[in-house]
Amino acid sequence: MNKINRGRRNFVKNTGALALASTLPISLVELAFAESSQNFSFAYISDAHIQQIKGASFVRNWDRGLIRAVAEVNLLTPKPDFVMFGGDLAQLGSKPELDHGAEIMSALKHKLYHVMGEHDYYLDLGEYWEKLFGPQYYSFDHKGVHFIVLNSIKTYDEWTYHRWPSNEQRMLEMADLDNPNGSPFMVGDEQRKWLKSDLDKLAKSTPIVVFSHSPLQKIYKDAEQIQGLLKPFSKVSVIYGHVHQIQYNQIGNISFNSVMATAWPWPYPSSYAQAQQYLPKLTVPMNRADPFFERDATGWQFINIANGHVDLDFTLYDNNERTVRFNAKTKRPEDNAYQAETSRIPPQSHY
Ligand SMILES: [Fe+2]
Ligand SMILES: [Fe+2]
Repeated sequence: MNKINRGRRNFVKNTGALALASTLPISLVELAFAESSQNFSFAYISDAHIQQIKGASFVRNWDRGLIRAVAEVNLLTPKPDFVMFGGDLAQLGSKPELDHGAEIMSALKHKLYHVMGEHDYYLDLGEYWEKLFGPQYYSFDHKGVHFIVLNSIKTYDEWTYHRWPSNEQRMLEMADLDNPNGSPFMVGDEQRKWLKSDLDKLAKSTPIVVFSHSPLQKIYKDAEQIQGLLKPFSKVSVIYGHVHQIQYNQIGNISFNSVMATAWPWPYPSSYAQAQQYLPKLTVPMNRADPFFERDATGWQFINIANGHVDLDFTLYDNNERTVRFNAKTKRPEDNAYQAETSRIPPQSHY
């Protein structure tokens, strides 16, 4: 057993009942680069996509994913200092969906922060979400680490305000996967200005963790400008949801890592063929999920941020475990077992 596995086994052992439930769609994050006397952890849940069918009836499977994550976070030992929800709480941004999601989340026994997802936003541009959860972007300090939350799923005003006959239509267009009518995400001028003034107050050695719903990488319109603002800092990590899969990348001084979803795994069958073109170069694509396992390719991840770099151990239900670690030699995150093209897992063929 190598060092990595040993560390991970210890973590699982310490979590008691948690170890039995091996499909946690959450992350426990330990920030090893905070002052050692102040080391702490936080949990991360993302992409619940609570979806109303009619009245009080909601898609059962999405409900179950979130209910399970909340229950399992409540069992974590050591207790996380706080919980981050990574966005896409709702599927179509409606009050019943957001209310239902908030109600499930209210069983959490920990302080909770929220990130805005596009499925939460495009019905009323975040108005009801703000009433429930507060501002769409903000920052806070915790034990020597500066945390920044951005609304990364905004887009051009022309698309948002002038293109659709109704707010419902706008929401449907943005919710539709790989829809050519969609529009690229961006953070936008207002938040970039705010981010600059927020960062100006910090020493360049301050560890920074940015939470964005979508990855702040090149396919997003103003990603490079945001990366520019973060460039002077020595310890920067961006953690994001939205992609429903394991993804990682290194751009300059910034490590990017995704977390998995509680609702369903990516790739969806119809977009599988597009994986090559959208995945960051380093990423080893996840297998297509087995439709007969409702929790397949959802999972949980233990995250350790040592010296400012995010290392992740992913536990996938009834599937191979994955480990993505920052490689100090190549200075980028890499999959421990599957990084080389020759050692990748062939796509599954269940049907
Ligand atoms: Fe999502
Ligand atoms: Fe999303």
